[in-house]
Amino acid sequence: MCGIVGYIGNKDSLSILMDGLKRLEYRGYDSSGVSLICRETSKIKTIKKAGKIKDLEELFKTNKPCKSNVGIAHTRWATHGEPNDINAHPHNDCFNKISLVHNGIIENYRTLKNYLIQKGHTFVSDTDTEVLAHLIEHFYKGDPMVAVKKALNRVDGTYGIVVLFSEHPDIVIAARKGSPLVIGKSDNQMIIASDASAIIAHTNQVLYMQDGDVAYITKNDIELSTVESNDALDAEFVEIEMTLSQIEKGGYEHFMLKEIFEQPDSLRDTMTGRLDKENGTARLNGIKDYFKNLTDADRIIITACGTSWHASLIGKYLIESYTNIPVEVDYASEFRYRNPIITERTVLIVVSQSGETADTLAALREGKSKGATVLGICNVVGSTIARETDAGIYTHAGPEIGVASTKAFTAQVMAFILLSIALGRKKLLSFDQGLSLIKEIEQLPSKISEILHDKNKIDSICRKSYKKKNFLYLGRGFNFPVALEGALKLKEISYIHAEGYPAAEMKHGPIALIDENMPALVIALKDSIYEKIISNIKEIKARKGYVIAIANKGDKILKDIVDDVIYIPETKEEFSPILSVIPLQLIAYKIAVMRGLDVDMPRNLAKSVTVE
Ligand code: M6R
Repeated sequence: MCGIVGYIGNKDSLSILMDGLKRLEYRGYDSSGVSLICRETSKIKTIKKAGKIKDLEELFKTNKPCKSNVGIAHTRWATHGEPNDINAHPHNDCFNKISLVHNGIIENYRTLKNYLIQKGHTFVSDTDTEVLAHLIEHFYKGDPMVAVKKALNRVDGTYGIVVLFSEHPDIVIAARKGSPLVIGKSDNQMIIASDASAIIAHTNQVLYMQDGDVAYITKNDIELSTVESNDALDAEFVEIEMTLSQIEKGGYEHFMLKEIFEQPDSLRDTMTGRLDKENGTARLNGIKDYFKNLTDADRIIITACGTSWHASLIGKYLIESYTNIPVEVDYASEFRYRNPIITERTVLIVVSQSGETADTLAALREGKSKGATVLGICNVVGSTIARETDAGIYTHAGPEIGVASTKAFTAQVMAFILLSIALGRKKLLSFDQGLSLIKEIEQLPSKISEILHDKNKIDSICRKSYKKKNFLYLGRGFNFPVALEGALKLKEISYIHAEGYPAAEMKHGPIALIDENMPALVIALKDSIYEKIISNIKEIKARKGYVIAIANKGDKILKDIVDDVIYIPETKEEFSPILSVIPLQLIAYKIAVMRGLDVDMPRNLAKSVTVE
């Protein structure tokens, strides 16, 4: 949430900053800005603008940036203060000698602001961030590091910051608590960013800053210490695997579409090296040291947000199908505000694509503090959640840029399939059952490809319904969470009100909404509850509802009952979410495009929600 880029080196800083900002725009796009230390004057020039990065670039035509080799840039997702020009980052001190970009929330900013106003500081914005610029100014007596550390020691809340000092044009300072920062180094230059996608074009050598770290950065060197102490820490760089082509659109109109179409491959990557046919099970090396904690668990609690929460609900159904371990699923944002019952035999599984979601991270820490074993299912390697869990399963879906999560969801479900089979083989599954499941898993990528190449039907359905104001998504059993996920996809990118419901629950209230203007999308596969869901569909049709069904190929009944049918291949009932979600992703995408909306950057959202 919010994207930060900083640069120090020999090259033109503006072009590197702007390139980085564009790669980070998915993290927030309410406003953006840059501060440069001008090469000729050593003064700071700040240019910022409400709107998307292209609006900032437009402004450069009239408000020209100076030549510079050191600078910072930011793309914002507003928390404190509406998204306007003044509240955009960077924020500066009273004399434009200090400039900073910030990701996170300064919780005690009101108290600090009042104190600084009394001391004579003048504030121009409504943001919490501006307080930091003035607080650093307050403590600045010639030594930037001392001023930054003194200021950060007065601050409650979370931050990832990069700071410029006009009197010290050969350094930048970065600090992190709760909001990720990565530093990349290559010959005579350092690039600091809130995630590696802004760095990868320049280097694959990165240092992941830890909470509490402060870095004093020159173009050739980093001195790492902490907010509390000046003792030097080892600046340990690692190689990242991400490639530039993974974070580019590769000929697709939108990242979301590219990511939907990547799913056959991303799922193969999730399962690579993990299918053990010899033993009819799945091999999960990442959690092998904690596997006994799982098999001996009195309870598993899974916690996550949004799409990851939907995948987690499928995870619960899977684990409970193959084992006798009770599983609960909790919204991460609720978890620590009640009293979750945790014993030393409880295993908490936190699920997150980004590995940086603040609510999920807080739930992880709550679980740890109460003594649970904490495991992760995470996509981003080296992310905070991946590092703070005892062990975990990487989903290996590759970078997901589209704000609407797609391939991360199917990869998370796949991770749960593998985990449940591995656990199931220690509990209720025989070798033959395990092997038959493993063999079916191998078929899933090509079955997804079949759905993706048969999308004409979806186009015509979307043309009929893209102007509707409301949608109902219904499913039962393993496909109830898919109904929730389909509804979330539609509302977040098309702004159409959509509700996901267990199909049979409809008669307890939502059925009142049914009329010819309310499309009901029903997942009605040939599974153990097929007959029941047919009855639910008839209830809708009896009330003149317009029904779109997701059915299995070969189904002869549904076409005569419903208005439109999308056929998908058959698979085992418990794996069906991986296939049934694909048409729902495509429907949400197509409808948003038909409505002329910005699919990859929907209003009010950001890819990774790093504030509570
Ligand atoms: O990175 P995470 O998986 O922790 O993110 C959780 C949610 O914020 C995320 O799934 C969100 O709901 C997506 N926009 C859904 O498409």
